[in-house]
Amino acid sequence: MAHLISASILNADFSNLKKEIEMINTSETDWFHLDIMDGVFVPNISFGFPIVEQVKKYGSKPLDVHLMIADPDKYIERFKEAGADVLTVHYETCVHLHRTVQSIKSLGMKAGIALNPHTPVSVLEDIIQDVDMVLIMTVNPGYGGQKFIENSYQKITRLTKMIKEKGASTLIQVDGGVDLLNTRKLVDTGVNVLVVGSFIFRSNNPLDIVTKLKKA
Ligand code: DX5
Ligand code: ZN
Repeated sequence: MAHLISASILNADFSNLKKEIEMINTSETDWFHLDIMDGVFVPNISFGFPIVEQVKKYGSKPLDVHLMIADPDKYIERFKEAGADVLTVHYETCVHLHRTVQSIKSLGMKAGIALNPHTPVSVLEDIIQDVDMVLIMTVNPGYGGQKFIENSYQKITRLTKMIKEKGASTLIQVDGGVDLLNTRKLVDTGVNVLVVGSFIFRSNNPLDIVTKLKKA
């Protein structure tokens, strides 16, 4: 399958959010990526339901919501109501991960599990068949514009092998420090969905950047 681009609006211009959403609508971007941070699980606070609802209202692409929050189970229904199509929780925040994944899926959303850079992919061996997507964090979660962690390729290789061996159809997503220098190698290593934030929104020509990322 051709790789997908999920545009992270974390570094968008929030004083012109509608314009930014419309720009993404006209681009070749596949999904909107929304980073929810609570200042507890990660050392930053981003935005909540009102912003998700606005992206749902004006956006014409699926909403890929990445929860970087403690106790995500409390909010699964609220994110469904706000318009999430894919809901990703962090492995590190879920004691009963299997139950969390089932709850997300029972509401009709795709379920994703994110792994911090230090968390090995082996922790997913007994749940991989039940998960729609695994998000390998390629930076420490919390901020846009950070440097890509090179060890991520090894994790992607191991995850690709695990998915194949288990006969699963799980998508692999990466998030953090993605640009035109690493996109091709990431896709060749097995990545299906690339989250791209500052490389799109800090560019002078975001539409052209997305086209290039899709062609890479
Ligand atoms: C980081 C977020 C990312 C971030 C990516 O915690 O999960 O989605 O917005 O931004 P860039 O592409 O700038 O690294
Ligand atoms: Zn993210």
